[in-house]
Amino acid sequence: MDRYVTGAVIRRLRENKKMTQEELAQQIYVSGKAVSKWETGQGFPDISLLEPLAEALGISVIELLSGEDIRNSNPHSNILRSKFYVCPVCGNVIRSVGEALISCCGVTLPPVEPEPADDEHPIRVEPVEDEYYVSVAHPMTKAHYITFLAAVSDQGIQFVKLYPEGNAEARFKRARVRRLYAYCNRHGLFEVKP
Ligand SMILES: [Fe+2]
Repeated sequence: MDRYVTGAVIRRLRENKKMTQEELAQQIYVSGKAVSKWETGQGFPDISLLEPLAEALGISVIELLSGEDIRNSNPHSNILRSKFYVCPVCGNVIRSVGEALISCCGVTLPPVEPEPADDEHPIRVEPVEDEYYVSVAHPMTKAHYITFLAAVSDQGIQFVKLYPEGNAEARFKRARVRRLYAYCNRHGLFEVKP
């Protein structure tokens, strides 16, 4: 569990349910003052209260912890809001377009925030006919390597998984690609515009 429920989330969900602090408190057998404290950041609900609290707010514990009410989220999303999630336990890579609640190996995964490509992760992009040839001058050992390359356009995500001892390179269809990404298992996600 990498996040804990915040006061702002409890308040928002409670107000969505049109409940007063007192009404929520009664449902989960705590005082109105306790709810008020959580909402103003002066305390956290005990972990044993998460299940009854989520139930009273009409969401799952996972949703409560992630701070997202995924059933009410806006389904309209722009492809450039594509996000990558990398499981720290098994290395699984999950892609989503827009907001999503992703968990793997029992851990709720935050989206990986990209940084601009740097000197140690130089993403080289060469147009070759209708493709981009993308390469990264970077170690490819088991301990430190580029685990995937990806190209994001407004039509979707092209994704190539890489392996240690292989080459840090891939080819992507050029059409409408707006960003190229490389993920280093030690240093995180890097991006360039083609
Ligand atoms: Fe690296």
